[in-house]
Amino acid sequence: MRKISYLLFIFLLVLFSCKRDEPIVIDDHVTTPFKLPNPRYFPTELNIPADNPMTVEGVKLGRYLYYDGRLNGRFHCDSMQSCYSCHQQERGFVSKNSSGKGIGVKGIISPHTVMPHVNLVYRSEPTFAWAGGLATLEDVVKIVFSLDFEFATTHEIAVETINSISIYPPMFKDAFGTEEITIDRIAKAIAQFVRTMISYNSRFDQFVRHEINLTPAEIRGYELFMSEKADCFHCHGEPALLTGSLFMNNAKDSLFAGDDDRFSVTGDPADYGKYFTPSLRNVALRNAFMHDGRFKSLEEVIDHYSHGLVNSPYVDPLMKYVAFGGTQLTESEKADLLAFLNTFTDDQFINNPDFSKPPDLKTGCPD
Ligand code: HEC
Ligand code: HEC
Repeated sequence: MRKISYLLFIFLLVLFSCKRDEPIVIDDHVTTPFKLPNPRYFPTELNIPADNPMTVEGVKLGRYLYYDGRLNGRFHCDSMQSCYSCHQQERGFVSKNSSGKGIGVKGIISPHTVMPHVNLVYRSEPTFAWAGGLATLEDVVKIVFSLDFEFATTHEIAVETINSISIYPPMFKDAFGTEEITIDRIAKAIAQFVRTMISYNSRFDQFVRHEINLTPAEIRGYELFMSEKADCFHCHGEPALLTGSLFMNNAKDSLFAGDDDRFSVTGDPADYGKYFTPSLRNVALRNAFMHDGRFKSLEEVIDHYSHGLVNSPYVDPLMKYVAFGGTQLTESEKADLLAFLNTFTDDQFINNPDFSKPPDLKTGCPD
């Protein structure tokens, strides 16, 4: 008998320690926990706010809202706009425009290139956008509505519009327990969806996991990337994210207006010319590079680091070759580095149906 109750005790202990699979209860409403993939060599710490746990219902709602052009509070085909209009899955969630910039509903061009949605759930510091300054993904979603170069509307109009579309109130009930639609709930659902966008199956990942070998040129590129010779790893070398997630000045200019860089947020002169170091995942799918899109090809980017560096007192000390104008790679080294950058393209990620427009979402307008 003692043995049985001991076993029962163990059984109950195991049962109650399996928290991960337990339903998540939000205001007495039962939802299903969403399981993120847990690729090894990825950070274990996730950037998920305590008041917005990931649920299957929330992610589903977020996916519909993300792709619904009526989210900007308009019903006419020529003035609707969704997140997808600037963040396109086939491009790794950046814009397909040749400038790399977004064009808002009023035709105003965004001051900066569109940033990709990739592995944002691992962003350790609460800093979003090129200059930082936005603390959470939920904050980013909320600001999209009011920006003139994005949705150019108000939260009230957006909430009213979504509320008037019959599919949504029941989906809010599933996700949050009641049919009430608020801007906070809209932002939470979309942020949940964006947090599911994890890329971990590029050829580079398969190589890291010893599943495939790279070509000799790609291997040579990898060795350059990871060594002082090409000097990329200091800032982009972290294998899961391909960014150290810091703000850096990578020696492009000598004069700084300080109006759109990290300085514009912190007011610290040490931050002149610093921008967020972007992830290089799916980088080959971009049309324009850097916050201002000044480089139009990866070849131009490599030329910049190789012999285009501009010195100033604000250049990051990790730009070790700035005094020499760059790392001075040979043509064949540049070709090898380019071949390696191409291994970051994740075909599974850009074709994953879970990240695409829900097939039954009908807005009555083309995408
Ligand atoms: C008109 C184009 C446009 C639309 C529409 C748009 N975005 Fe963006 N997005 C951008 C641009 C441009 C940036 C870079 C902003 C900057 O720092 O200047 C950006 C940045 C972001 C970032 C920051 C990524 C990072 O790494 O810090 C997130 C997240 C994001 N957008 C999510 C969304 C979501 C969600 C929607 C829909 C609610 C949306 N965007 C709609 C153009 C757009
Ligand atoms: C000192 C840190 C640092 C080093 C070293 C560095 N980078 Fe960067 N990289 C950055 C920053 C910061 C940006 C964004 C700058 C901006 O937007 O103005 C960037 C941007 C890029 C971009 C553009 C990505 C995009 O989405 O627009 C590419 C590609 C790139 N780097 C590749 C490399 C390669 C290849 C190397 C090695 C040859 C390298 N970087 C070395 C910090 C660095």
